[in-house]
Amino acid sequence: MKNILVTGGAGFIGSAFVRRMVSKHPEYAIVVFDKMTYAGNTDNLIPVSKSQNFQLVQGDIADREAVRSAFESYGIDTVVNFAAETHVDRSILSPDAFIYSNVVGVHILLESAQKHGIERFLHVSTDEVYGDIEGDHLSVEDDPFKPNSPYAASKAGGDLMVRAYHVTHGLNTVVTRGSNTFGPYQYPEKLIPFFITEALEDRPLPVYGDGLQMRDWLHVDDHAGGVETVLLKGKAGEAYNIAGENQEHNIDVIRLMLKLLNKPETLIKYVPDREGHDRRYGMKCDKLKALGWEREYNQFEPAVEKTIAWYKENEWWWRKIKTGEYLEYYKQQYAARLAAASS
Ligand code: DAU
Repeated sequence: MKNILVTGGAGFIGSAFVRRMVSKHPEYAIVVFDKMTYAGNTDNLIPVSKSQNFQLVQGDIADREAVRSAFESYGIDTVVNFAAETHVDRSILSPDAFIYSNVVGVHILLESAQKHGIERFLHVSTDEVYGDIEGDHLSVEDDPFKPNSPYAASKAGGDLMVRAYHVTHGLNTVVTRGSNTFGPYQYPEKLIPFFITEALEDRPLPVYGDGLQMRDWLHVDDHAGGVETVLLKGKAGEAYNIAGENQEHNIDVIRLMLKLLNKPETLIKYVPDREGHDRRYGMKCDKLKALGWEREYNQFEPAVEKTIAWYKENEWWWRKIKTGEYLEYYKQQYAARLAAASS
């Protein structure tokens, strides 16, 4: 392993992985390949932009010619695929882009990887492929897939395509399935950065349904560390869960953020629920721990506090995002919901 193509490396989790790998592993050349959709942001890569072992190429994983050119120009031997459409609400409003990137794009990347003799292919997937979990079950890697949103179904499709390329073509693949991730540089449409930045401006916080859904929260640096561990030590053909082992009800996360921000709970507005909303995700990650992975952030409150401090100190980063396309999306997703809100 020498030259690593990190697709989607200008996004939230991808860029955390890139910042980590560029500084920790000068022995690898890191080439970011990113379509630069609304969620791809070169600002996320400023900390490594002048590093010798870093390159940025704009390209789409569903574009065979662009992928071939990147593989050949940079002598790529390893692929880490973060490229994806990721936001569940957007997949309900307009699913086409999800099928295009998360299914067709993954297929084209796999096919190109196989043709070019790529030595290792890591695919970043999600706990949402397991669907809504019942009772106190925690998902393990061999559990069946029961995705419920168009986003989750598209990720399950890509995840299964990776399996097929391993079994059918012998491609050296590994898959990671991460839980809900938070931290710096996260596009402010996801719960934590959306609510932090809205609360800072004393704007209403739209809580879907009863707010009693549960998510397992994982710091982005721990997610990136899990991907690094699987890349270096994972067994070919296997999948590994990356969990925070930190399940919280949404409303408790929201109340915690308001407390840390010193903002009133009157900002909370209960709005009509997300369609098909999964109640709970939670996973075991013993398989990843057996490879030596450990989390750096094991306490939720200080990790949220640090995240809030980052958004307060980096208004330049999110203020310019919350314009144009973002405002269009906000209107489409929230205008009618907030009009029907209750406190
Ligand atoms: O579980 C991993 C997944 O986590 C990733 O695969 C997805 O890419 C990522 O978007 C995330 O999915 P969620 O749907 O869980 O994340 P989101 O931040 O959209 O929502 C978290 C919870 O908060 C969910 O139960 C919906 C709720 N929520 C979210 C938003 C944006 C609200 O109540 N109000 C909101 O405005």
